[in-house]
Amino acid sequence: MLIRRAEPRATSSDIPRPLSPEERPATGRGSHPASNLWLEISTSLGTAPGPPVPPGTTAQLSPLLLRDHIIDFGPTAATLADTYVDEDAVLTYARAQSARTGVRAVGPSGGAALRLLAAALGAKAVAEIGTGTGVSGIYLLRGMRPDGILTTVDSEPVRQGFAREAYLAAGFAANRARFIPGRALDVLPRLADGQYDLVFCDADAAESQAYLAESLRLLRPGGMVCFEGVFQEGRLTDPALDDPRTRAVRELVQAVRESDLLLPALLPVSDGLLCAVRR
Ligand SMILES: C[S@@+](CC[C@H](N)C(=O)[O-])C[C@H]1O[C@@H](n2cnc3c(N)ncnc32)[C@H](O)[C@@H]1O
Repeated sequence: MLIRRAEPRATSSDIPRPLSPEERPATGRGSHPASNLWLEISTSLGTAPGPPVPPGTTAQLSPLLLRDHIIDFGPTAATLADTYVDEDAVLTYARAQSARTGVRAVGPSGGAALRLLAAALGAKAVAEIGTGTGVSGIYLLRGMRPDGILTTVDSEPVRQGFAREAYLAAGFAANRARFIPGRALDVLPRLADGQYDLVFCDADAAESQAYLAESLRLLRPGGMVCFEGVFQEGRLTDPALDDPRTRAVRELVQAVRESDLLLPALLPVSDGLLCAVRR
């Protein structure tokens, strides 16, 4: 879904105001791209109705798709995963700010997965590339240890201002988040080696491989890197598309799968959450 950009304007007195169902923005990147991908995959494999696929098309899409045990759950799986998550007033507010400012926040199922992973890791130090207006940050902070610190980077300080308000409204003390404004590839080299339990990448997809290299340096052994949006709203598997951003994400997905340093899983939540543990 394309979200129209609007000039952001928020005051602390707005926070948090529960929105009525009519006012609620779309739930973010999520349901349909994922289900489209599964449909695409199963169509390519001849397990679902669809146009005839020329020989070799599956291999061209990606070696990732060469599997004989993929199940097409249809649209319900991703929709269920998103609707399973009950977002509170603060998340609803942060998500509305995302919609107003043209930011594509992680969907509820992706947010819940991040919260789960942060909790499972007992994360004390998390680095986030792409603060946005704070949706993913709230999920991460809710999974992290109570003394954990989220270091979050964004090239747009105004968005970080909204995220700061949202974290406070969610009850997190100001010292739980370190906001660093700037371009990711300028900021990340300044962060300490091997100190992070989780790195969440959600900024410029064209820079994915560079984020991966930085993440490998930042993570402690046993830490995890996650990339949001790897389905690219269905573009990942669209053989007609070969733009630099889509190509960069395809290369990322393949590099993560083939790295001896990583144990990967591609989670079909939100718009595709690629996760990998650093050995
Ligand atoms: C998809 S949004 C992040 C959404 C946020 N993670 C969430 O789910 O709520 C991407 C963010 O990355 C920022 N961004 C884009 N390119 C960047 C770059 N090269 N370095 C730092 N931030 C960047 C944008 O300003 C935007 O706020």
